Amino acid sequence: MSGPRPRGTHRLTAGRGLLFGGDYNPEQWPEEVWAEDAALMRDAGVNLVTVGVFSWARLEPEPGARDFGWLDRVMDLMAGAGIAVDLATPTASPPPWLGHLRPETLPLDASGHRLWYGSRNQFCPSSPVYRERALGIVRDLAARYAGHPALALWHVGNEYGQVCHCDVSAQAFRDWLERRYGGLDALNAAWGTTFWSQRYSGWAEILPPRRAPYLVNPTQSLDWWRFCSDALLDHFRAERDVLRERTPDVPVTTNFMGLFKPVDAWRWAAEEDVVSNDCYPDPGDPLAPARTALVHDLMRGLAGGRPWLLMEQAAGAVNWRPHNLPKPPGQLRLESLQALARGADGLCYFQWRASRFGAERFHSAMVPHAGPDTRLHREVRAHGRELRGLGEVAGQPVPARVALVFGWENWWALEEPGRPSDRLRADEQALAYYLPLWERGVSVDVVPPDAELGGYALVVVPNLFLVADRDAAALTAYVRGGGVLVVGPFSGVVDPDGHVRAGRFPAPLRAALGASGEEWLPAAGEAGCRWRDGGGAFTARTWTELMTAEGAEPVAEFTGGDLAGRPAVLRHRAGGGTAWYVATLPEPAALAEVMARALADAGVRGEVAELPAGVEAVRRGEVLFLLNHGTATARVDPGGRCEDLLTGAVADGPVTLPPRAVAALRRRT
Ligand code: GAL
Ligand code: ZN
Repeated sequence: MSGPRPRGTHRLTAGRGLLFGGDYNPEQWPEEVWAEDAALMRDAGVNLVTVGVFSWARLEPEPGARDFGWLDRVMDLMAGAGIAVDLATPTASPPPWLGHLRPETLPLDASGHRLWYGSRNQFCPSSPVYRERALGIVRDLAARYAGHPALALWHVGNEYGQVCHCDVSAQAFRDWLERRYGGLDALNAAWGTTFWSQRYSGWAEILPPRRAPYLVNPTQSLDWWRFCSDALLDHFRAERDVLRERTPDVPVTTNFMGLFKPVDAWRWAAEEDVVSNDCYPDPGDPLAPARTALVHDLMRGLAGGRPWLLMEQAAGAVNWRPHNLPKPPGQLRLESLQALARGADGLCYFQWRASRFGAERFHSAMVPHAGPDTRLHREVRAHGRELRGLGEVAGQPVPARVALVFGWENWWALEEPGRPSDRLRADEQALAYYLPLWERGVSVDVVPPDAELGGYALVVVPNLFLVADRDAAALTAYVRGGGVLVVGPFSGVVDPDGHVRAGRFPAPLRAALGASGEEWLPAAGEAGCRWRDGGGAFTARTWTELMTAEGAEPVAEFTGGDLAGRPAVLRHRAGGGTAWYVATLPEPAALAEVMARALADAGVRGEVAELPAGVEAVRRGEVLFLLNHGTATARVDPGGRCEDLLTGAVADGPVTLPPRAVAALRRRT
């Protein structure tokens, strides 16, 4: 497609304000129910619904047939009710007839077992047969609804993530590899095929990493992750281009799944007009509020700082965990406003009305089985209505002076089998470093490893096991230029081919960090540590490294075992900046101390001076959001006279927040 397209949500929010709604699956209901749906939606302030995600078999009941009549009526009904439609291409779940007639469209797992229809997502991303059928229905859908007054947004597929190991996928992998490497010699070199007699003498020999007797080649596997993400992206692009051709002014999105390993969201986000995400915090997870905040910040990063959409969240319990805790009263509002505070312009749910049948009949919805006269629906309605009063937040940015680096290639590379420890995980490390920032109300932008860093006062790299030369050079230049950098353990280890960088580690960051190491030492139990400036003792776990200071100051050291007296945390003044290296996994309080010191180096403070535990503080535009995720009533001083946009109350001094309460404060003079 030619020319840059306007990205972001403004085409959706213009004239509508914040978006509120959910997945609407009217095909599961007799038409008599639809009119009630529309009335209830209006009453609840719903202004956006996602329609048709799983409607392929309804739209194309047999090969080549078309049944759009019911969807025409749904679209007209929504238009009449003033509700915009996020119309889905139905290609996430092909009808049974496709798998029956053309079983080669069904995916094979790594053992060569076929995954059958009867559920959803049963397609091979590289199948030309699937592609042709998918584009056929997409083309007709676009032609049919181009210009329809309800059509506001295209929702391509659903939660992309399928993988297939079939022969067609193998050939697509070879083609991808040929484009990447040009020739077999380069591939053999990158994959290190002199190891274990793996040299390839012809392209036809190359396979996906199928089930094998023992550990597979890590670079083959890394390229497979890259390929699988790209193969799906290629399919997304094909659908998107069909839609854009027909409806150039309707933005296109596909719903991400947060920190989801199979899809390199940095590459994907660049291809969509609006970034959207599905987010299902686990009510049983004490870290859920911070984990969720991190994912919201990632979405804002993917959107290039622009607003994004929370496409799916649950109004109550989900049904896909083994034991599904409900959301207590107030929780749906709290979680939804958290997304708003972190840059979402739309707050949507899966789904509008709870299904009576099918695999998700026990999943909560905006209208439960018990009907609208229920606690849950009343909360939904109240929340939808209160969003009308927060319209000024739409489009506003969340300014941050701290960047946290996260990349998918690193995630894939770090977690290949055959590593020193499988307990070091990229997503968990990201959360560990994010947590103390979140606890202090420090806003963070999540950025890719090749981001422009110049505007940030502090850059946090929880892990960068795989690092490209130019990205390491940029981090080094950032420190020399006066920036503050924090780097977590087992970073700077391999190049983009997954080859270990020779020399003391982290080789490409050694100068910036003023320190280097020679052994990675996964820990049997807890490792004792102490601050060298008298700050007391702490423990670390899982991972230690044998480090030597080379200009850096050892700020904390190990106290026991073979590492006694060796640096555990180092701080290096380099050029105008400061670089921290953490050579272990410190207990949360100790990592919080590292981050507090780095924040002090960077001159960055949280949004409020004193933030009680469990309270989240984040500023969006002019509005300071305070969200109490804790179980105790909290008092927070926003530092001045403020109006709470949620209640209209104006007050000076501390705000009282019972559990699950939220304040949206705007300064008033
Ligand atoms: C999402 C999906 C929805 C629904 C929901 C249930 O993964 O996109 O279709 O299945 O989960 O939580
Ligand atoms: Zn396949």
